[in-house]
Amino acid sequence: MKRIGVVGLGYVGLPLAMEFCRKNLPVFGLEVDETRVRQLRRGRSYVSDVASSELAGFARKGLFTASADDRGLSACDAVLVCVQTPLRKTKEPDLGRIVAAMETIARRPRLGRLVVVESTVFPGATEEVVLPILSRGGRKLGRDFFLAFSPERVDPGNSRYTISNTPKVVGGVDAESTRRAVALYERIVARVVPVSSARTAEMAKLLENSFRAVNIALVNEMAQSCRRLGVDVWEILAAAATKPFGFMPFQPGPGIGGHCIPKDPQLLTWKLKLLNFEPRFIQLATAINGGMPAYVVERIGGLLNRLRKPLRGSRVLLLGVAYKAGTSDYRESPALDIMQLLIEAGAQVSYHDAFVPRLRLAGKAFSSRPLTAAALRRADCVAITTAHAGVDYARVARAARAVFDARNATAGISRRNVETL
Ligand SMILES: NC(=O)c1ccc[n+]([C@@H]2O[C@H](COP(=O)([O-])OP(=O)(O)OC[C@H]3O[C@@H](n4cnc5c(N)ncnc54)[C@H](O)[C@@H]3O)[C@@H](O)[C@H]2O)c1
Repeated sequence: MKRIGVVGLGYVGLPLAMEFCRKNLPVFGLEVDETRVRQLRRGRSYVSDVASSELAGFARKGLFTASADDRGLSACDAVLVCVQTPLRKTKEPDLGRIVAAMETIARRPRLGRLVVVESTVFPGATEEVVLPILSRGGRKLGRDFFLAFSPERVDPGNSRYTISNTPKVVGGVDAESTRRAVALYERIVARVVPVSSARTAEMAKLLENSFRAVNIALVNEMAQSCRRLGVDVWEILAAAATKPFGFMPFQPGPGIGGHCIPKDPQLLTWKLKLLNFEPRFIQLATAINGGMPAYVVERIGGLLNRLRKPLRGSRVLLLGVAYKAGTSDYRESPALDIMQLLIEAGAQVSYHDAFVPRLRLAGKAFSSRPLTAAALRRADCVAITTAHAGVDYARVARAARAVFDARNATAGISRRNVETL
């Protein structure tokens, strides 16, 4: 394998490109966003898990090239596709970027090239959508190109499990494609797990993320149940987690976010509905998780009520808008829904998030406020929506007039006006 192409240099593609560079394999990164390309060329990373110094070092050595010009793909023996696969407003999958990426790859052919889809897609998409594009003009699978699906398992902000020590599932559309894709990933991953088909690998990814969505929903429902029962969900979770078998702890929170957990189960739902099957667990989980921001806002309203303040006109400071700790990614973040609901209720909302200096919400620009004693005093209520490491939540709990903690960051601090989920 001489040169690897990575199409789409985002949260998935950029760390993957770096992993190949670490093994001295040259990578050509194709990225349509020219601002991102300019940043990369200046040696600046926009993904929290990729260090700018390492990126710049690989670029200097000629191991990593980023470009918006697809000509570089012609020299790539393997091309890994990591573009977004969002949902439309109608909850149908939008594979437009996958289609565009594959058309670009097909325009820059190379005999015997391996193409791997890493973006999350519905079961069957690699065979039903990608294969026909690569086969155009009489090109033949197994001779002109090979094709596999291998789901990315990147966990932004997780330094314990990285690409190299997280097992990688690989399924080709034929046996030779699987074999070649396994050989490629064995260069960078300690354990590669071949499965019988691309469809199997696609479904494995959707099971993993549906499992998370359903279990998070269960524990979110538990949080609401515990409140009615007058018991502390966090204490109950800690107690249950002492069972050494048959229990896996999940944490309640303000909802689910990011480009995976809210979206992936919908990809499966969409496909199953075409087959006249309703996946009920997923639908229930979607409803429970989707209701959490409103539940949090209701609880903030209750907390303010204790201070004899209505939501309208109250100053609410949100701590953390990223969809989870340790990342700058705020796509689909439930904190945004909370912000929106608070604004609709007439609250004056601001936020602090060291990872997200600026954001746009409903056409309005917001910027992160410094977390000072004055900012805490000014706020009528501080709501912890993402518990990033490095924030002194004990100080927050002491300094603020009222704290609603949806992430249990202030665990163990007893104060009259601290409420947890
Ligand atoms: N973010 C995660 O934690 C994560 C984890 C596992 C799987 N995934 C899946 O991986 C895929 C990518 O997600 P992401 O978070 O990296 O998205 P992202 O938005 O961070 O990155 C995608 C990049 O692809 C670029 N792009 C789009 N179309 C292109 C094209 N035709 N040619 C070249 N570049 C193109 C975009 O400009 C963008 O920079 C999605 O399917 C997602 O569901 C994401």
